[in-house]
Amino acid sequence: MLIRHETPGDVDAIHDLTWAAFKPMPFSDDTEADIIRALRAAGDLTISLVAEESSKILGHVAFSPVMINGAHNGWFGLGPISVVPERQRQGIGKALIAKGLALLNERGANGCALIGNPDIYSRVGFESDGRLTYQGLDTRYIQRLVLRGPIPSGALQFAPAFGP
Ligand SMILES: CC(C)(COP(=O)(O)OP(=O)(O)OC[C@H]1O[C@@H](n2cnc3c(N)ncnc32)[C@H](O)[C@@H]1OP(=O)(O)O)[C@@H](O)C(=O)NCCC(=O)NCCS
Repeated sequence: MLIRHETPGDVDAIHDLTWAAFKPMPFSDDTEADIIRALRAAGDLTISLVAEESSKILGHVAFSPVMINGAHNGWFGLGPISVVPERQRQGIGKALIAKGLALLNERGANGCALIGNPDIYSRVGFESDGRLTYQGLDTRYIQRLVLRGPIPSGALQFAPAFGP
């Protein structure tokens, strides 16, 4: 399996994959695939990686700038992330996240934050200490991984493509 940056020819496959992966999820509002297009259009798709095997896209992850208490400060958000349903729980998501974090680190980013299932993201180094908040959400779902610099605290805000 190859993890590589997206190319223009991957755009529709990423959209279809994201739609298919999120569709069965009870928490999904089916907007995730469109969010990726909107991030790309806005120039906010900082890193977009695909997992490819035999010329088929099996997984995708997006990273985009976030703000904490109104300041970007070198922090990025992870997501949406998707793996084709028939290949989930085989390490593809973990490989995409590891590569994305390594690239963020190379770029000098201070850290990465996300909203998601702690059972999954704690396996790849994310933690929640209750210091980041997001619209009244239970802080266990708001997780972060510090690459360098201070531990952040305050209100997390995603790129405009994610909506208000
Ligand atoms: C979430 C998703 C991207 C994870 O990708 P994946 O390839 O299935 O995950 P991996 O096999 O790399 O697993 C990574 C770790 O998380 C754990 N994990 C994965 N899915 C899990 C689940 N549903 N519940 C609990 N733990 C889970 C794995 O056990 C693994 O830990 P380990 O290496 O210590 O065993 C994938 O399941 C998916 O596309 N889901 C549908 C879309 C979605 O929910 N996206 C994320 C929204 S926050």
